[in-house]
Amino acid sequence: MTPSVPFATIEWLGDWRGCARIIDQTRLPGELVYIDIQSATEMCAAIRKLAVRGAPALGVAGGFGVVLGLRDAQSPDPSALLESLDRVARQVASARPTAVNLSWGVERVAAAVRRSAPLSVDGLIEGALAEAKSILEEDRAMCAAMGRIGGALVHEGGRFLTHCNAGALATGGMGTALSVFFSAHREGRKFRVFADETRPLLQGARLTAWELFHAGIDVTLITDSMAGHVMKSIGIDRIFVGADRIARNGDTANKIGTYSVAVLAKEHGVPFWVVAPSSTFDLRLQSGAEIEIEERDPSEVTEGFGSRTAPAGVKVFNPAFDVTPAPLIAGIVTERGLISPVSETEIRRVLAG
Ligand code: MRU
Repeated sequence: MTPSVPFATIEWLGDWRGCARIIDQTRLPGELVYIDIQSATEMCAAIRKLAVRGAPALGVAGGFGVVLGLRDAQSPDPSALLESLDRVARQVASARPTAVNLSWGVERVAAAVRRSAPLSVDGLIEGALAEAKSILEEDRAMCAAMGRIGGALVHEGGRFLTHCNAGALATGGMGTALSVFFSAHREGRKFRVFADETRPLLQGARLTAWELFHAGIDVTLITDSMAGHVMKSIGIDRIFVGADRIARNGDTANKIGTYSVAVLAKEHGVPFWVVAPSSTFDLRLQSGAEIEIEERDPSEVTEGFGSRTAPAGVKVFNPAFDVTPAPLIAGIVTERGLISPVSETEIRRVLAG
């Protein structure tokens, strides 16, 4: 738990024989319920159903997933454990495809295990847990740094808009896009935030509105289709969103609907900002065209949350993410500084710093 966040989205309990504890985000905002994850299979299921979600939190979940998978393997000796490592890493990394943080967290822990061989089985799993815990600690620090740096862009009396949930629930710390609001709020500034509800799974309504409202920040919930009207009629000074994967040219994958918000922002002259840690950049990719977009079950669109809203059997397209081209992005807040303008040269320069 961080001092600024009154709950722990994801943590580890005990030593390597313990378990991962997550908030079951499918139950919010109705109930704040924690679940204990005892195996890699349970972790993958929690990731798939979005009980744990948001790119940086998935990085931590991926790391803990590897620890659990190595423990599940019940290997008799270190070499058998190392043989199961690739299978475990593939299993956990493939739970969701778009957020690079998941495979990044998995690979980081797997690499630490490979580096530390030969040790006892217990020693290898303990080492994996230590690495996964450092991903969590670093994520907390990165969120705080993004909040400090990006908070300066949130001025007194300003009106801001965000899409999906990039808050404490999406990270191990105080969030990415929402960290800038938490930070400005802590410094005593007053401002308004418009939160897109974020169809079809309502991360904006269920999670962002919940986080900001309980923090005492002036938040107004709108449906996604109201964003253009709000920009035109009320006026928005700046938009902040998170990211699931950023290619080296700055093209950014984030929750479905983000691209539409960026296009509307351009039409209305509103600066569109992304807030993301270095772990969300995928410099192997030349552009956003190479980012795999997760497609999810049609029932999320036709009968989300149990109530049927479309004819049974109708064709559905349900991509969970879209890509906003770099030219629509005014800047990216990272824990290492601001990237603006967004170009490969600037990205490499700031990330190297
Ligand atoms: O499908 P989700 O809820 O995992 O999607 C989350 C988002 O798109 C977030 O905006 C993104 O992961 C950034 S979180 C700091």
